[in-house]
Amino acid sequence: MSVEALSGKVFLLVTGASRGIGRQIAITFGSMLEEGSRVLLLARSKDALQGIGKSLSSSVKVCTISADLSKSTDINFKEFISESLRGTTPNAFDRVVLIHNVGFVGNISQTLNDIMDLNVWREFYDLNLLVPAVLNAVVMNTFNNKIIKKTVINITSPVAIQPLVCFGQYASAKAAREMYFKVFALENPDVNVLSYAPGLVDTDMLTTVCGTVADSKTKKMFYEMKEKSMLTTEQTVNCLVQILKKHKYNSADHVDYYDEL
Ligand SMILES: NC(=O)c1ccc[n+]([C@@H]2O[C@H](COP(=O)([O-])OP(=O)(O)OC[C@H]3O[C@@H](n4cnc5c(N)ncnc54)[C@H](OP(=O)(O)O)[C@@H]3O)[C@@H](O)[C@H]2O)c1
Repeated sequence: MSVEALSGKVFLLVTGASRGIGRQIAITFGSMLEEGSRVLLLARSKDALQGIGKSLSSSVKVCTISADLSKSTDINFKEFISESLRGTTPNAFDRVVLIHNVGFVGNISQTLNDIMDLNVWREFYDLNLLVPAVLNAVVMNTFNNKIIKKTVINITSPVAIQPLVCFGQYASAKAAREMYFKVFALENPDVNVLSYAPGLVDTDMLTTVCGTVADSKTKKMFYEMKEKSMLTTEQTVNCLVQILKKHKYNSADHVDYYDEL
């Protein structure tokens, strides 16, 4: 299946690539890349990242870097990219595909009035909002040649546009992250930007949500949705590939898995 955004020599960067949706994006997108492309996978679990790297074709060079992204800075990101570009230069690529997948659900065992520790908020926003913003800027500055076509995918959630009890941290960060990418798209009309809500997917995050969400109505809703319509990571990533292939969205639109059925 040919997808324009993944054609030519691609530099692909996926955050949160060791498990769940990010892992599947790395595998599916990585297996579609042409010879000479490079892949940079970031997460904390080194072994899991290396396993994914080994599963991809040897015609694509994969760099795996274990890092706690909540504590990473612009300097770290420049070093990670420079490490993954060893022996080549940014201008050697036709395209950049940057997937902001990393995410953490935060404190869902309490409601907003109970979350009073500023550091808890800071740490949460660092990983879910500030790190994608800074990484995005570093990547755009590294691959600043206009000839290089760029696709940026923000993995979002329905709660970015629809509030849900106990999801105050997560929803507010996802909403802010979507708005960041809307402004970014306005400022960069040559970049193809997509905010993709992947549906309810069978991952560790979903297990955490069902196990720890404090509000009984929200918990019941998740259990019912899980029974009826839980997706595999393959299903949602295949849908993402189709969305990119058809490219019917406007830059920075919020597109949901269920819109595509
Ligand atoms: N699952 C769903 O139903 C669902 C629904 C809507 C939206 N989403 C969104 O989809 C994205 C992926 O979710 P998922 O369900 O695949 O989650 P997941 O299974 O919990 O995977 C999260 C990924 O992020 C990495 N990660 C977490 N904290 C990190 C940190 N501090 N530094 C570096 N990497 C970190 C994890 O790797 P390490 O532990 O190795 O670091 C892992 O690779 C998220 O943005 C989530 O909000 C998921």
